[in-house]
Amino acid sequence: MNINTDVYQKRRKIVLSHLNNGVAVLFAAPEQRRSNDTYFAYRQDSYFYYLTGFNEPESALILDGKTGQSILFCRNKDQLRETWDGFRFGPQAAQEIFAFSKALPIDEFDEQLLSYLKGADTVSLLLGLYPDQDQRVLQLWQKAKAQMWAGINAPKQFTDLSLVLNQMRLIKDEYELSLLKQAGAISAKAHIVAMQKTQPNQYEYQVEAELLHTFVSHGARYPAYESIVASGKNACTLHYVNNQSLMKDSDLLLIDAGAEFQGYAGDITRTFPVNGVFSGAQKEVYEAVLNAQLATIAAIKPNISWQAVSDIALKALVQGLIDLKILSGTVEGAIESGAYKRFYMHGIGHWIGLDVHDVGGRFDEQGQPLLLQKGMCTTVEPGLYISAADDVPKAFHNIGVRIEDNVVVTELACEVYTADVPKTVAQIEALMKNQ
Ligand code: GLY
Ligand code: MN
Ligand code: MN
Repeated sequence: MNINTDVYQKRRKIVLSHLNNGVAVLFAAPEQRRSNDTYFAYRQDSYFYYLTGFNEPESALILDGKTGQSILFCRNKDQLRETWDGFRFGPQAAQEIFAFSKALPIDEFDEQLLSYLKGADTVSLLLGLYPDQDQRVLQLWQKAKAQMWAGINAPKQFTDLSLVLNQMRLIKDEYELSLLKQAGAISAKAHIVAMQKTQPNQYEYQVEAELLHTFVSHGARYPAYESIVASGKNACTLHYVNNQSLMKDSDLLLIDAGAEFQGYAGDITRTFPVNGVFSGAQKEVYEAVLNAQLATIAAIKPNISWQAVSDIALKALVQGLIDLKILSGTVEGAIESGAYKRFYMHGIGHWIGLDVHDVGGRFDEQGQPLLLQKGMCTTVEPGLYISAADDVPKAFHNIGVRIEDNVVVTELACEVYTADVPKTVAQIEALMKNQ
């Protein structure tokens, strides 16, 4: 088994260095019931995974600042349960293979946490993430406090562990970058297959099947989120996941889909004609979005603020809307009045990592716009969504276009991890013609 324990140990050490005399507690994600006695495929909590690499439910982690120890709690080995549900490590193997200071049965968690709380000055939790677990820790803390008469010191402060972990997760380490790159490459392959296989008079879900088939065939067992396969006016519904319409010859198809590879997300959108050839109006909207996307990617480099990057995209999109005569007046005027918001109603992108919408803010601790730094990973996803309306030229009605790539900020600029999927009109038409 090839588990990169050094990576997780190094991350735990960083968290431990912030704890002083405190303890941090994290919990595995609970299993999610789908119906009666069947469950959704298990997905570990991203924070827990980031610090452990351990993929089992019913687990918890205590980081003890006083001793510098990492203690995993997990399920015991159980021959009967393993016959039904599959392998579990059990504490002994988990400790050895994942290099924890100690690993103990999850049944001992409450008793152990109580003893770690005694004498600790703070408790750090991912507050609000699993409210039942917050409650559990709070009750144990009350127990510890009740023993203060006997000279026991209970923690005096609860702190939100996400302050430290979000900052860490914002800058990806080399290992994460290699996984994000693979997630991007697999996602890109799936989009290419989708372009090659799309035909008029198929259902959207038939294209979704091609995406999922390609993800899984390349080792990405699950999509990073529900795939959006939206033809015609469905593309104007931002989170359309119904995917059950018949695709018409003259429709555009917007696909927003990404693979999850070893926990890391890809998130690509491409928009292309179902019949392989853009109409005049489709091409005009498409190129307005593409210009905005290329201008935005060209601006991404260290020390530029996210706000500045967003403004570049917004100005380019609004200029496009004016050129198409969908909006009138000046770019500044349309931005000031918000007239563009009917056609571009989301942000230019989001951090991407273990979560497709990855954690971390856009502002620093002083409330100043965050400056991009090497190792930050973001999507760049401008779009225009033109629903039918009397004040919009008819040729543009029901055209929705988004183009989305995943980029990492490098020393001097950025690298696009999802560049393999064709993006210009000519490239897309050529691919669809030659399939
Ligand atoms: N696929 C979700 C998004 O692009 O944000
Ligand atoms: Mn996205
Ligand atoms: Mn997306």
